[in-house]
Amino acid sequence: MVEIPTRLVLAPMAGVSVQAFRRQGRRYGAGLVCSEMVSCAGLEHRNERTLGYLRVGRDEHPLAIQIFGSEPGVMAEAARMVVAAGADIVDINFGCPVRKVTKTGAGATLLDDVPRARAIVGAVAAAVNVPVSVKMRRGLENGSRACLEVGPQLVDAGAATLTLHPRSAKQMYTGEADHSLTAELVSLVDVPVIASGDVTSRARAQAILASTGAAAVMVGRGAQGNPWALREIVDGDAREPTREEVAAELILFVRETVRELGEHRAGGFLKKFYGWYLGRGRFPRPFKQEVVQLETTDEVIVRLFAAAPGAAEIVERLESELPDPGDEILLDSMAISIYGGG
Ligand SMILES: Cc1cc2nc3c(=O)[nH]c(=O)nc-3n(C[C@H](O)[C@H](O)[C@H](O)COP(=O)(O)O)c2cc1C
Repeated sequence: MVEIPTRLVLAPMAGVSVQAFRRQGRRYGAGLVCSEMVSCAGLEHRNERTLGYLRVGRDEHPLAIQIFGSEPGVMAEAARMVVAAGADIVDINFGCPVRKVTKTGAGATLLDDVPRARAIVGAVAAAVNVPVSVKMRRGLENGSRACLEVGPQLVDAGAATLTLHPRSAKQMYTGEADHSLTAELVSLVDVPVIASGDVTSRARAQAILASTGAAAVMVGRGAQGNPWALREIVDGDAREPTREEVAAELILFVRETVRELGEHRAGGFLKKFYGWYLGRGRFPRPFKQEVVQLETTDEVIVRLFAAAPGAAEIVERLESELPDPGDEILLDSMAISIYGGG
């Protein structure tokens, strides 16, 4: 049994859900955070970059680590590894619409192959002693209702919760999430259902919870460069952050991400975050453009401190409250020093 302290879950997002994002999400009120999808084949082959996704901070719990793949046995082994790394929940991805993933028979394609989907959930549930959850889309084609057929079967096979993002795989992120399907799914299963898609405010979260009977909402894009949205959804605290607060959170995010990914990878990875944090009318557009073009993360930090000197005090406070990074739980086999720059 994993207790989730609030009804807000931070979404798994590939290329976004690094440790810094998840830890920040917890600080701003997410009751559960999730890793981005981790390849079970990558884990099987002890791929260094894949193993890097299993770095878990002491202050992240409860944490779900999401795995994707198409072979039940390989998924079961991957599940054992992510639990050994510290996951409180193993989440299975039956939602990814990206061709690179679906062409391997993983992600959303499994919504079209119920026997295999059942076998995967069954094998994973039998392999670990933590709850197993599944995240899925409504189906492959527009208008599909496959999730309503597949969802109950996955619960029968051992899923302890289901998350539904009610767009089709074909839709990718266009159109709207149709949460009338979420309501139908809730009525069909006796496990908690989490509603994902287009939750950006407390009003929207409350409307979805009320109209669907979902146990929680999941927030993805709304939290990109905007942890304050989580606070608004959980507490109703709609204060806009000051420039100093924005700069401070971004500086902390940069520092943590460099520590996690190494300067080389973090440099490119962080560019999109600069736009997300500094946009939304918070800083003048030319400033944002200037920051994106800086070569190193050190230059970015210097520039942010210069633009918002009051950020220094906030950063210092935030850093003093974070646990020592040396406390991370690591896989025995993981060579952290090699990973750092990889
Ligand atoms: C950049 C990006 C990456 C994503 N990566 C994943 C992923 O790795 N696993 C997953 O289950 N969903 C992934 N999603 C889907 C989100 O978890 C979420 O279901 C979807 O974005 C709808 O929620 P939102 O409207 O709050 O963003 C991703 C979404 C985005 C925008």
